[in-house]
Amino acid sequence: MRYVIGGAEIRTENAAKPSSQKSSSVDDYIGSLDNAPSILDFGCGKLRYSDTLVSAASKVTFVDSAVQLSRKQVIREEKTTVEKYVEANYPGCNTVSYEKLNEHNSKYDVITCTNVLSAIPCKETISDVMNHIFRLLKKDGLAIFVNQHRSSYFKRYESGERLLYGFLHSGPKGTSYYGVFDRTAIEQLLTEHGYRVIRTWCVGETTFSEAIPNS
Ligand SMILES: C[S@@+](CC[C@H](N)C(=O)[O-])C[C@H]1O[C@@H](n2cnc3c(N)ncnc32)[C@H](O)[C@@H]1O
Repeated sequence: MRYVIGGAEIRTENAAKPSSQKSSSVDDYIGSLDNAPSILDFGCGKLRYSDTLVSAASKVTFVDSAVQLSRKQVIREEKTTVEKYVEANYPGCNTVSYEKLNEHNSKYDVITCTNVLSAIPCKETISDVMNHIFRLLKKDGLAIFVNQHRSSYFKRYESGERLLYGFLHSGPKGTSYYGVFDRTAIEQLLTEHGYRVIRTWCVGETTFSEAIPNS
């Protein structure tokens, strides 16, 4: 997804990391989901966790911006697109763009949102993402948010301009944004959007939150 902030374009598709850079705590957590849930992975990026998601789930819907889903890039050593990779490798799974998500009404047992909120430099879009996840969860569904509450990588951003949950950074490759969500920030965001937080815990620099729709 691309955002324009103060005249600068932020290409958040470039923030996605490849599957060779999985976080083992996130991968282990996803791998531990039981009962083969239907999963929607919100902001799937370059499919960093897709193998683990597909092994744990009955089916997975991968959501990201149209540009992230359709651009050519290297995924597990293959030059392809996210859309083509999912179609060729994960039977029964599909992709839906954020731009077309309003037309998507399937409900899911689990929705994962891994390191996505930190990439969004726009309050309204963060709210829209939170509302979509709420809307697409089954009544007894579980939303899982994974965020960095601290990051060594974040250090270089701190000289930049403050924005929302983090900083804007202008470098030779353009402007980027990096937000940091600690326990208080994510729990507040969840509560404001009608979720009930089940539990929040930290592993290293990562905060995991499980939440359900408040009924
Ligand atoms: C840091 S990457 C994380 C990707 C993946 N979840 C992972 O952990 O590897 C952030 C992703 O959020 C996506 N993104 C940004 N805004 C979005 C939006 N409004 N809807 C869906 N995806 C979005 C970007 O395109 C990018 O792929």
